[in-house]
Amino acid sequence: MLAYTYIAPGKFELLEKPRPALQTDRDAIVRVTLGSICTSDLHIKNGSVPRAVPGITVGHEMVGVVEEVGSRVQSIRPGDRVTVNVETFCGECFFCKNGWVNNCIDPQGGWALGCRIDGGQAEYVRVPYADQGLNKIPENVTDEQALFVGDILATGYWAAEISEIRPEDTVLILGAGPTGLCALQCVRLRSPGRVIVCERDPQRRAFVKRIDPEALVVDPENLPEFVREHSEHGGADAVLEVAGSADTFRMAWECARPNAIVTIVALYDGPQTLPLPEMYGKNLTFKTGGVDGCQCARILELISEGKLDTTPLITHTYPLREIAQAYDLFENRLDGVIKIAVSPRG
Ligand SMILES: NC(=O)c1ccc[n+]([C@@H]2O[C@H](COP(=O)([O-])OP(=O)(O)OC[C@H]3O[C@@H](n4cnc5c(N)ncnc54)[C@H](O)[C@@H]3O)[C@@H](O)[C@H]2O)c1
Ligand SMILES: [Zn+2]
Ligand SMILES: [Zn+2]
Repeated sequence: MLAYTYIAPGKFELLEKPRPALQTDRDAIVRVTLGSICTSDLHIKNGSVPRAVPGITVGHEMVGVVEEVGSRVQSIRPGDRVTVNVETFCGECFFCKNGWVNNCIDPQGGWALGCRIDGGQAEYVRVPYADQGLNKIPENVTDEQALFVGDILATGYWAAEISEIRPEDTVLILGAGPTGLCALQCVRLRSPGRVIVCERDPQRRAFVKRIDPEALVVDPENLPEFVREHSEHGGADAVLEVAGSADTFRMAWECARPNAIVTIVALYDGPQTLPLPEMYGKNLTFKTGGVDGCQCARILELISEGKLDTTPLITHTYPLREIAQAYDLFENRLDGVIKIAVSPRG
């Protein structure tokens, strides 16, 4: 089968590889029907993910059809249409039982797919702990609608949840990349009074306006005054930092009102400063971390009920055999790209 492979820093290649086989009785083999490319794949390509293992097939965003399951897999059968979770987790340890699956103690746990073990920019993928890592797609939900459930939509859902948003709130989202846009939709599920989206790319600002005309959209230059004008208590009640630039951590806490929750979704290239003397008395709560992606079943229900729809984020589609061109487009943000669907067929 064809599999897009991490050869060495700076180098991915489409190789012919054998189809994966079950390795444990809790695995499943999934025939990929649609995949995507994530910003984290670019981090592997650029050599900034030290844990990434050369030779692995990349890709951790995909949907497909179950081909085969191990004897201890209970919730999934061959023939089921499924979303695949970016995270591997056992479902049994202390952290999993509390829903903190990002810290599952299993040595294979966390972001393994397409990083430490073969992922899904390929025709088939092996998914460990299939009862946890796969969710059935409802019949009325298409592959395109379900494509982001296991990764960036799970992240947006988690970020909105831990931000404790209330109906009267003004919510500020920094960054309208694919993850920020998913966060925006998930914040909307909580019906806050106002949502402000700050994005520096004018094309992406226009994109936000198209998919969410009610959102207040602003560029970073005018942000502090804009937030003060459009909030009741001197700043945003909740801030979601989904940009990850050098200055966005500071922007996040500066634009928050006293006692706000500031949720840091973004991953930074370097350490950030927490200038406590400057923020003393503001009594902020910071929340950070890797997504605890265990609400996929709920997210699929919301899609099925028409309450979430991330299909507008798919701006381009490529066949797997042309995935190198798709990476080029995504990496260089050409042609207004937000997300690319990669189809192993065609
Ligand atoms: N915590 C997690 O588990 C998790 C999961 C998924 C993604 N992430 C992180 O979330 C972040 C966003 O991911 P993405 O895929 O959307 O990436 P992205 O790079 O496409 O999006 C970032 C957006 O922020 C904008 N931006 C950058 N600097 C800005 C500034 N100063 N002011 C306003 N806008 C600015 C960019 O133009 C871009 O549109 C990344 O850091 C990613 O690593 C974290
Ligand atoms: Zn990802
Ligand atoms: Zn666990």
